[in-house]
Amino acid sequence: EETGKSGYEHYMLKEIHEQPRALRQCLRGRVNEMEGRVSLDVDFDPERVQFVACGTSYHAALCGAHLLQRSGIPAQAFLASEYATSPPPIGEDLVVGVTQSGETADTLSALREARRRGARTLAVTNVVGSTVSRECDQTLYVRAGPEIGVAATKTFAAQVVALTMLALTTDGEQRDAIAALRDLPGNVQAVLDSSTAREVAEEYVDSEAFFFIGRGLCYPVALEGALKFKEITYEHAEGFAAGELKHGPLALVTEDTPVFAVVTGDGELARKTIGNVKEVEARDAPVIAVTDGQSDVERYADHVLRIPTSEPRTAAVLANVQLQLVAYHTAAMLGRSIDKPRNLAKSVTVE
Ligand code: G6P
Repeated sequence: EETGKSGYEHYMLKEIHEQPRALRQCLRGRVNEMEGRVSLDVDFDPERVQFVACGTSYHAALCGAHLLQRSGIPAQAFLASEYATSPPPIGEDLVVGVTQSGETADTLSALREARRRGARTLAVTNVVGSTVSRECDQTLYVRAGPEIGVAATKTFAAQVVALTMLALTTDGEQRDAIAALRDLPGNVQAVLDSSTAREVAEEYVDSEAFFFIGRGLCYPVALEGALKFKEITYEHAEGFAAGELKHGPLALVTEDTPVFAVVTGDGELARKTIGNVKEVEARDAPVIAVTDGQSDVERYADHVLRIPTSEPRTAAVLANVQLQLVAYHTAAMLGRSIDKPRNLAKSVTVE
């Protein structure tokens, strides 16, 4: 068991540190820098896309839907467990199941429902030969390597990169995005080497609750930051779309509720999230900015978790690494069962 952890105290920490390698594997042979093109061995030319997924994979699916919409393809992500309760019209839609294990009962059953209604299906999974890959028409493997920790880390990063590549296949030449993907493993390594997440964890470990906010692609990152945090620390953590704060969650914000604000770039989204940061600051909540330093969010933050400057698609993955580390170090300080959190299973094979 100890050798399996390669000297790390937990599988989760080992897997967080394996992300550069997982992403290199995910990208290998699929991006052609000379031609400025992505090529995957799946046929992907859909009219519209419906994603179905659970847990962390649902957050990757939200990223996937966002990325496809940006490429001009209507796309929506559904929680697999809700899909059958109000099934959307299928039409010509491609239904994409995102599942690390390929065995999650809710996701399999949503895909079966879609197939029963005539949909074509694509699996995005980490496990070769998994049930989902056998049942779907096509499979895109994320190639993150085996993940032991119950909390998904490197597989989320690889799912987002795989879905980024999928969206890029519909986009023609994409040199900037391809360069950003090429640099991503090295940039993840830079985050791992320089992160001050442990200090942030030390400072706020005794807080009452932990909130995470973001917009655009940073919104699923906020959701995933909160999910990771609650899974392994057992503390109250919630992720919100930054713009929704004022519609309710702001009532929860006090000086005892640190707010992690994921702010990348320096455009309109960053400017608006900074507006939300000012709102929480006015309620005396500590603000931790997860940022590439392009905007002036740092002026309003008590702590900064820096990520290298890249483009928005890859920035989301980098920001998520910082939040993984904050969750990990907080859980370690609280003495939690990090690799096998109470009540949770790596793969849930019942509905
Ligand atoms: C379980 C795990 C989560 C995971 C979810 C979906 O709840 O604890 O970490 O995100 O299942 O798993 P899948 O294998 O479908 O990605």
